Amino acid sequence: EEPPAEAAVPQAGQDGLVLLRRVGRVDPASLDDYRAEGGYTALRRAFAIGPAAVIREVIDAGLVGRGGAAFPTGRKWDATARQPDHPHYLVCNADESEPGTFKDRVIMEGDPYALVEAMTIAGYATGCRKGYLYIRGEYPRALARLSHAIATARARGLLGDDIMGQGFSFDIEIRRGAGAYICGEETAIFNSIEGRRGEPRSKPPFPVEKGLFGKPTVVNNVETLVNVLPILEHGAQAYAAIGTGSSTGTKLFCVSGTVRRPGVYELPFGATLRELLTLAGGTFEGRTLRAVLLGGAAGAFVRPDELDIPLTFEGTRAAGATLGSGVVLVLDDTVDLAGILVRIAEFFRDESCGQCVPCRVGTVRQEEALIRLSRRPASPSADLTLLREVGRAMRDASICGLGQTAWNAVESAIDRLGVFAETEAP
Ligand code: NAI
Ligand code: SF4
Repeated sequence: EEPPAEAAVPQAGQDGLVLLRRVGRVDPASLDDYRAEGGYTALRRAFAIGPAAVIREVIDAGLVGRGGAAFPTGRKWDATARQPDHPHYLVCNADESEPGTFKDRVIMEGDPYALVEAMTIAGYATGCRKGYLYIRGEYPRALARLSHAIATARARGLLGDDIMGQGFSFDIEIRRGAGAYICGEETAIFNSIEGRRGEPRSKPPFPVEKGLFGKPTVVNNVETLVNVLPILEHGAQAYAAIGTGSSTGTKLFCVSGTVRRPGVYELPFGATLRELLTLAGGTFEGRTLRAVLLGGAAGAFVRPDELDIPLTFEGTRAAGATLGSGVVLVLDDTVDLAGILVRIAEFFRDESCGQCVPCRVGTVRQEEALIRLSRRPASPSADLTLLREVGRAMRDASICGLGQTAWNAVESAIDRLGVFAETEAP
């Protein structure tokens, strides 16, 4: 039996949380608890101001996507809402599969009605009558809690026809993934829902124009959607006052690895990596920090002397790293870094859908070269050169993000951490 969501939130129940404020405080099965803790005030406000004003609020709040790519949410909503082709669809990407990412799970298990309400608002703003919740197959508790929340909301007039007597009809259908990482890529989700192989499509056209069943589709990550609740509850201005000018609001960080208090932490954008690690208790007694992997397998390693990086989209970008989906994987001096790189390469090789050559072949070559390098060869330079060439080809010529980023973490380990430097020819 998996531990419940609140066990993964060391701050559960503390004051000052925005997105996690109900986790550990409410019974996730109880709609009455949810309503008693502010639930459905955001939807009521949405109905009061109308769809265009909801989109305006989301734009003014500066909300950007929390799945990893940080695309402006309001722009996506506006582009979908304007499409003359109908029907429009909403897809909530709950296929959270980036290694080291477990924040959406905490929301779905600990505060499922928040996602149901947020999807309803997104559907209202963008002109959708139908939303799909595409949920990771390995999250049985989240699935059970969301199924219950959706059924209860429907029975209480909060989903289905004429929601809250406002003349708006919207419903949510859950689709379950089957363990493929690539099915978290937004266009692969469309194929999966349509009953095809879970392979990404070329973009453009972007989903806002031509997505699920070829229709305008807005795709948002779970964390992105639940941010809409505080935006509507307190207004765009109050929301944008949190964080920095370019990264507004709060962010969920998934801290794991060799750290004392792993878990999901919610902090305003702008806190430093050092502050987050201090909150998580730092490394174990007698150990020293070797590196932190920021942003997941597609992210970048940072060194112990870089802990003052502000955790913002702009701050991590300026430091040559990325926030991605909020992965903070802590590695101390006991960790075999070369082994970690081989594991990352194995993961990408295994999860490549095989549709395009640079990624299908490149991920295999990358793993082979890293295995050879991890055995500390006398002359590693040929493999290091090969890795760079393969990495560049994958980045430039792959169809989707998997291939385009499969070399990111490996490159940063070589360039920033000096992994294999001791074996590199002079
Ligand atoms: P992307 O940059 O291609 O797109 C981001 C979003 O913006 C998409 O919804 C896309 O449709 C939209 N978009 C981009 N340009 C647009 C335009 N001109 N008009 C309208 N919409 C536009 O990134 P992608 O491939 O969707 O996501 C990559 C990210 O996903 C990476 O940062 C990676 O870290 C993250 N990721 C997260 C995972 C997780 O479990 N949370 C798993 C795997 C990857
Ligand atoms: Fe498939 Fe990789 Fe090409 Fe993406 S980059 S479409 S995962 S083969």
